[in-house]
Amino acid sequence: MTDITPLRDFLPCPTPDAWIGWALAHPDILLIDHAHCEKKAASTALNLMFRYVDRPALLDNLSQLAREELLHFEQVVGMMRQRGITYDHLSPSRYAQGLRRHARTSEPGRLVDTLIIGALIEARSCERFAALAPHVDEELGRYYRYLLKSESRHFEDYLRLARLYADGPIDERLAFFKEKERALIEEPDLEFRFHSGVPAISQ
Ligand SMILES: [Fe+2]
Ligand SMILES: [Fe+2]
Repeated sequence: MTDITPLRDFLPCPTPDAWIGWALAHPDILLIDHAHCEKKAASTALNLMFRYVDRPALLDNLSQLAREELLHFEQVVGMMRQRGITYDHLSPSRYAQGLRRHARTSEPGRLVDTLIIGALIEARSCERFAALAPHVDEELGRYYRYLLKSESRHFEDYLRLARLYADGPIDERLAFFKEKERALIEEPDLEFRFHSGVPAISQ
């Protein structure tokens, strides 16, 4: 089993129990939104590869990451088909946008912040798979445990790239985004999504 201690130490808070209960009450949305998240993770990596063609480490790491995310997408969609769940559009949660709106607009701050946000999203996703694994059915639990390995590596890749391309220490920016992340995870949310906060009304 993958050791996710480093990423648990990195995240500002654990997933609240109320979110786990919410997820178990919405098994279809959990899988549908998971599929969307994998696709978005691939798309974020590809966008960075288009924008920063002069950064070899970024190109190498994110190209592999994008391929892995697309593979996960195919696997999740396969499981949905097996389970008779129809893939559909879903409004995105406020989470990713709630982090990205704080990214700086001039370089290299823009790149560094985008990479820090990438590290947080990957770490949170990984932590949520680990949190859900003991509570879902055996097949899904096995799949979530399988995902921990690549998703924890993605977290490390993003963090390493952020340090590589920053023109100084990134600790202050990390602390800033961690506090934003904590709020998005711990504050009430209206709709259940993979990255939503806790249910606004008791479920
Ligand atoms: Fe993934
Ligand atoms: Fe990932």
